[in-house]
Amino acid sequence: YYSRLVLGIETSCDDTGAAVLDETGTILGESLYSQNEVHLRTGGIIPTVAQQLHRESIEVVVHEALERSGVTPSQLSAVATTVKPGLALSLGIGLAFSQKFVRKHNILFIPIHHMEAHALTIRMLQPVPFPFLVLLVSGGHSLLAVARGIDDFLLLGHMLDEAPGDTLDKVARRLSLTKHPDCSTLSGGQAIELLARSGDRRKFPFRTPMGRIYDCCFSFAGLRSQITMSILKKEAEEGIEQGTLLSCVNDIAAGTQHTVAVHLAKRTHRAILFCKENGLLPSDNPILVMSGGVASNQYICKALTVITEKTGLRLLCPPPRFCTDNGVMIAWNGIERLKEGKGILSPSEDVCYEPKAP
Ligand code: KG4
Ligand code: ZN
Repeated sequence: YYSRLVLGIETSCDDTGAAVLDETGTILGESLYSQNEVHLRTGGIIPTVAQQLHRESIEVVVHEALERSGVTPSQLSAVATTVKPGLALSLGIGLAFSQKFVRKHNILFIPIHHMEAHALTIRMLQPVPFPFLVLLVSGGHSLLAVARGIDDFLLLGHMLDEAPGDTLDKVARRLSLTKHPDCSTLSGGQAIELLARSGDRRKFPFRTPMGRIYDCCFSFAGLRSQITMSILKKEAEEGIEQGTLLSCVNDIAAGTQHTVAVHLAKRTHRAILFCKENGLLPSDNPILVMSGGVASNQYICKALTVITEKTGLRLLCPPPRFCTDNGVMIAWNGIERLKEGKGILSPSEDVCYEPKAP
């Protein structure tokens, strides 16, 4: 008996990631190139720039992951690659590379849905039986779903405008947090979490979004305009230029983080009640999994813990390095699909993939 091996490739946004996993979920080798620093300098992700950076690093990243694992391409059973959702230009690099690779080495190809991969990552780390509730919060997404199987998700709520990570990134940019000595290399979410620790959220009591809309959807655009208005007001009071506020950035960070946490917690609470009423979760040991980049936020985790304790669920959250984008989660999803024989393509089969205009 030998374990089948899968190479996972992730290029959906601004991280080029690759990893080799075996069937037990052991990571044999991995490599991750983050473009974060470049995008921080340009004030956000420019799709053509992200594409070029993926193009420049994909071969090195895959080579590194393989080399570290000591696995040769011919020993792989399959390549699993993110094909959606994400930036079309970025996705295209990973897909083109993978298709060439599987044809050259005559191995199977497994197209992966990025959000499904986030949702299933926890199963690589510990046994989590279906069904479970999952909250995915990242720079591109915000959703609540019941995971009923590896390819069976019941969507309970989605984002209506922007994603929480995007909001945190934009607020951080508006506050010029990259110029802050402790935050120069941090993502917006990380910078806000760090500064919020020494801030007083009560000084910026933002309204929680969608207070009168009784569903499980998410909205952060209105919150961001509240925050922007407060920043503008402060700047005007102090008679300073935009983006140069120093006096109360910690308090604004704390107020922002708190309101994001409360919104996520309230929508999740409603989803849990809905699941209970409709018997969507097991009565014995019901679980909430939280993942995606924003799930690495300790304050947000604590807010969700309050909800899960109140409702008798167990909150499981992968450690930060598995919450943010990487090749490991894609490879793991490939392993899960390989085991169940779902969505596996022969090397020559074309992926149904429609690139959208950038
Ligand atoms: O999952 P991810 O790596 O990429 C996407 O698919 O979007 O998530 C990245 C997002 C960024 O918006 C970043 O600001 C946010 O996750 N993030 C955080 C933290 N670390 C990363 N947000 C809040 N607190 C954090 N500690
Ligand atoms: Zn992601």
